[in-house]
Amino acid sequence: MDTLGYSKGAALANWFEAWFDEDYALLYAHRDAEEARQAVSQALHVAPELGQGPVLDLGCGAGRHLEILRRTNPLAFGMDLSRALLRLAPRDLRSWLLRGDMRNLPVKDHSLSGICLWFTPFGYFSDDQNLRLLLDLGRRLRPGGVLVMDYLNAEEVRRTLVSEDTLERAGVRVLSHRTIENDRIVKRMRLTRLDTGETRQAMESVRLYPPEALEEMAAHAGLRLRNVMGTYTGEAFSEESPRWIGIFEKVG
Ligand SMILES: C[S@@+](CC[C@H](N)C(=O)[O-])C[C@H]1O[C@@H](n2cnc3c(N)ncnc32)[C@H](O)[C@@H]1O
Repeated sequence: MDTLGYSKGAALANWFEAWFDEDYALLYAHRDAEEARQAVSQALHVAPELGQGPVLDLGCGAGRHLEILRRTNPLAFGMDLSRALLRLAPRDLRSWLLRGDMRNLPVKDHSLSGICLWFTPFGYFSDDQNLRLLLDLGRRLRPGGVLVMDYLNAEEVRRTLVSEDTLERAGVRVLSHRTIENDRIVKRMRLTRLDTGETRQAMESVRLYPPEALEEMAAHAGLRLRNVMGTYTGEAFSEESPRWIGIFEKVG
């Protein structure tokens, strides 16, 4: 076993506990600070509420969006389950980061002016649990608070699915198999370190909710859709958009 855990990943019960580590950070390094800067700037434009008061970046990873948002909002903070990703966060963010499971949020009801779910930290659980999470997020928001749901475009994922490919990045070769199973996009990966030949398996499994389903779940949580973007640069959502970025406000 080495520091990247090449022989440990499969032992954890849930894919999202096992996968978000240093390898994830290396392979998704192109999801970078510049992309986060654009996304946060568009979100602040549509939802200036994010600029004031306690705002939670949930599933914040190494904090790329949080770092930007905190330039505007010194009360913004982040939470993530992954020790490895939190360790990669810039040092001056550390006191604004919590480690924990989003299904067990350590914040009071009606206490937040905003919650951000950047780059798909939603849809990981069963339908029941996903709905319960959304209801919980709705409860944690103040009336008038906002939720940013940066989610995949489910139809586009189905339409453009590449069932198998290989890429090499940062000294790791990744063979990926993708299937749709029970309305989830399931990606099974085999990672090989090119220097040592060590291998590791990892997977992702994300529920493919169409926008109407997200809106309906959000409505149950007292959240009304204010705006939808299809890209991080603020373009309108269309069938072929890479993202579905819904900005909801808490009513009542
Ligand atoms: C696709 S990554 C996005 C990370 C970050 N928002 C970004 O854009 O770079 C999803 C994040 O959700 C976190 N996560 C997954 N399951 C979680 C859980 N149950 N509770 C809290 N965070 C979780 C992962 O550790 C990971 O950092």
